[in-house]
This record gives sequence, structure tokens and C-alpha cells, in this order.
Amino acid sequence: MLNAQERDQKVPHPVLMPKLNEPLLLVDRARRLLDDARTVLVLTGAGVSQPSGVPTFRDAGGLWRNHKPEELATAGAFAHDPRLVWEWYAWRRGLVADCEPNQAHHALARFAALHPQVTLVTQNVDGLHERAAADLDRSLGEAAAERAQPLALHGSLSRIRCSKCSYAADYPAVVDSTSLATLPKCPDCGALLRPAVVWFGEGLPTDILEAAWRAAESADVCLVLGTSAVVQPAASLANIAHGAGGQIIEVNPVETPLSVISSVVLRDSVELIVPAILATWQSADAGFASTPSPPSELPVQELERPGLDGR
Ligand SMILES: NC(=O)c1ccc[n+]([C@@H]2O[C@H](COP(=O)([O-])OP(=O)(O)OC[C@H]3O[C@@H](n4cnc5c(N)ncnc54)[C@H](O)[C@@H]3O)[C@@H](O)[C@H]2O)c1
Ligand SMILES: [Zn+2]
Repeated sequence: MLNAQERDQKVPHPVLMPKLNEPLLLVDRARRLLDDARTVLVLTGAGVSQPSGVPTFRDAGGLWRNHKPEELATAGAFAHDPRLVWEWYAWRRGLVADCEPNQAHHALARFAALHPQVTLVTQNVDGLHERAAADLDRSLGEAAAERAQPLALHGSLSRIRCSKCSYAADYPAVVDSTSLATLPKCPDCGALLRPAVVWFGEGLPTDILEAAWRAAESADVCLVLGTSAVVQPAASLANIAHGAGGQIIEVNPVETPLSVISSVVLRDSVELIVPAILATWQSADAGFASTPSPPSELPVQELERPGLDGR
């Protein structure tokens, strides 16, 4: 692992780079970082699904009927008006059902499937990474397809869970949100069922967060794709990777809080950039450095790991 000084010599800080508008140069820089990596963490956000037609939260069009997501994606909002919250989720479930994984999802699925050193972590709840994994060539085998399944930090739009007991299940059926009486009820206790997503103020699934955290601590490269990087603790994964000596590659048309710690910043759509960066790694022959990462001697940055404060 490089120390901070070696890292800065190897890849100049993006702010110091005079030709930020030369995407090929930057794509090449990103590829070279991956070439030297032994372990890679990929952290994705809503921007990865934007080219598929799924609206992000914070870009234009992120509002739904003048409601901010932060006002609807909370346990309090559900307790106050479950019908309205379910109407929003029913709309989102219908919307993603009509969308398809894009070239970024497909390139990432193959990247993670073919290379066990890659950990794919997503904040998205739309199931498009999962569908890209399911679309993988069956000849790659089950273990490879399993590796392409993301660690979904914030749950899934296609699942439901009980608002009172521990019942949880896949729920492909259309949710009828016309009245309180038509909302889905728990088969075990009769309470209202709710979307199995992590809402603002709620904790993340511990096992998934732990696995993502471990991958961040040992990542030589962290690819940060299409996230505003303001939702915690998800965004902290990139800080953890950076604090342990990993290099950050950011793909996002706009600046984020992670841009300043990124070695390479690509200001374009993931749909163009991700397949270009990962082109070499779409075949199993393309290697990473094979030795496992030595344990980092740098202290892991102290960051809080509270429940989500933005969803
Ligand atoms: N698709 C989904 O599942 C979905 C959609 C909206 C929100 N969310 C939830 O919203 C929370 C918000 O965090 P977030 O950071 O994921 O989303 P966000 O809406 O806060 O930010 C989206 C980011 O993507 C960038 N972006 C937009 N189009 C892009 C493109 N084509 N290529 C690259 N980048 C692009 C934007 O500049 C922005 O920084 C997450 O917890 C997530 O669960 C999920
Ligand atoms: Zn129940």
C-alpha cells in the first residue's frame, strides 16, 4: 500500500491537474490505478441508475408531488400517513419495474463476478445491480453470479417487512395504495407491512454494513460512482478506504464531498465512463496484483457508524 506522499507523487491531486477536461487521460489514470490494485471496493449511488431512467433524489426531478424524499422516507411519516408513503413507494416500484440495467450495471456485474477481489456495495434499492447479476452469462457459474450480487446497504424496493414483528418477504405484487384498507398486512400479526428499505434515522443491516466496512478497510482502490456522498454511513466507506491508504476514483458530473480526496475525478455519466474504465477487466484473464493486501499500518479513520442520517 502506498503512503500518502507516494500516492500524491504517483497521481497528482485532481485540483492540480491542468487538463481535467481530457477524459481519455483520466480514464487511463483510473485504469492504471486498478492495474496496481489488489482489492477494489465499488460504492454506487442513485446516479448509476439515472441512465436507466430511475430519478435520483437530489437532482432535478427528484421530488415527487412536491414532497421531499426526506419527508416521506421515515418511520414517522409512515406512522402518520402510511397510505401516502405507500403511494410513493408503489410509484417507485412501478417505475423501476419498467427500467432495465444499463451499461454501467452490466460492466460492474461482470467485473465483480470475474474478480473475487472486488466488492460491490450499493446504496440503491432499485434492484438493477441484482438484475444485471442475474443477466450474467450462465457459463460463468453460480459462484461468479453470486459475487456480482451487491451488498445492498439500504434494502430493496421489491421486499416488504412488518412494521411490528419480524416478518419479511419478497413482494412482487402491485401494492394498492388507494386506501388504508387496501394496504398490505402482515400474515403473522396483522399489522401494516412496510417497504423493506432503510429509512432516515434507521440503522443499516449490521451484517451487510460490517462486510462493506471490512472491504473498505482493505481496498487499494475505491470506485465511487454516482453518489452525492452525503448519506451516512454509506459515504464514510470511501473515507475509510482513503484513510487506510486506498485511492479514490470518483465518477460524477458534479462535485461531491469526496471529490477533494479523490485521486481521479471523472465528470461524466457512469454509463460512458464505467464500461471504459473496466473494459480490460471484463475478461477473467485480466489480473489484479495477486498478493493479498497487507494489513494497513495507518489508523483507520474514526468515523461514527450511527443509523442513517439521510436516505
Ligand atoms: N435508484 C435508487 O435505488 C435510488 C434512487 C434515488 C434515491 N435512492 C436513495 O437515495 C439515497 C441518496 O443517495 P445517493 O447519493 O445514492 O443519491 P443522490 O440522489 O443523493 O445523488 C445522486 C448523484 O448521482 C449523480 N449522477 C446523476 N446522474 C449521473 C450519471 N449519469 N452518472 C454519474 N453520476 C450521476 C448526481 O450528480 C448526484 O451526485 C440513497 O440512500 C439511495 O438509497 C436510491
Ligand atoms: Zn407482523
